[in-house]
Amino acid sequence: MPLHRLTSITIGVPDVDAARAFYRDFGLEEREPGRFATAAGGEQLRLVTAPRRNLLELGIGVDDPEDLGRIAARLERLDVAVQRETRLLRATEPVTGIRVVVEMTERIAQPAEPALALNGPGRSERTDARSPAVGDAQPARPRKLGHVVVGSTDAALSRRFFVDGVGFRVSDEIPGFGATFMRCSTDHHNLLVQPAPATFLHHTSWEMGDVDEIGRGASRLLRDHPERHVWGLGRHAIGSNFFWYLRDPAGNFVEYYSDLDVIVDDELWKVRASSGADGLAAWAPPVPAQFLMPEDVLG
Ligand SMILES: [Fe+2]
Repeated sequence: MPLHRLTSITIGVPDVDAARAFYRDFGLEEREPGRFATAAGGEQLRLVTAPRRNLLELGIGVDDPEDLGRIAARLERLDVAVQRETRLLRATEPVTGIRVVVEMTERIAQPAEPALALNGPGRSERTDARSPAVGDAQPARPRKLGHVVVGSTDAALSRRFFVDGVGFRVSDEIPGFGATFMRCSTDHHNLLVQPAPATFLHHTSWEMGDVDEIGRGASRLLRDHPERHVWGLGRHAIGSNFFWYLRDPAGNFVEYYSDLDVIVDDELWKVRASSGADGLAAWAPPVPAQFLMPEDVLG
């Protein structure tokens, strides 16, 4: 696939300073005011002032100029205006108004991190020693931006823009609901578009080392701010990842995840159509109503 990664996102919020404090606590590195980096992905989040919370820009990485040319041609066939520069192109998703920037950029290089030794029935990987997870005082540090989820008033048209235009691949879908999980990398999903009564950013999601780091990060965020909790800990059925959702001060949900499905061979992955209920979680606490539709979206 010519697309290889999400590069960065720009989120508009009414109170940038309050959001900045949250994302610092979340574990992102603030390199300049309102600009945040992950451990492996470089600068991946920009916060700007906006009257209401929303995803303003989404960046996607490609390898070479030929990729940009093919994407521009496909978007133009969909009657989408394309602004072309040497190393990037810009186009606006017609339903949500999200500015999409497709840019030539390096592929993400992530060093393989050793897995935690886990004991199980008849299987002792760690003997005569306490688990390092118990004493780990390292602050949680998101490795990269994993995916974004947006609500669209015409999810089918938004899907057409991203799949037929930009070149995302479909990984799974919930046809009854009209939601599509799409990837622009080997990750199971980097973008999910779901129908909504108004355009909104449902959540952003950030890769963590493992489920223990998700727990450590969320616990720390909740220590003085229990109101930040949304939903977790659980394991999604679509994508298989562990998750814990929190809320930033503007109302955007923010997910720590680990152990997402990876699709290396498109021929071996079979797209599955799920119903909304069975796709949501393999196990988790009951899903809060606000997760399904945040109150501010309903106006
Ligand atoms: Fe997610």
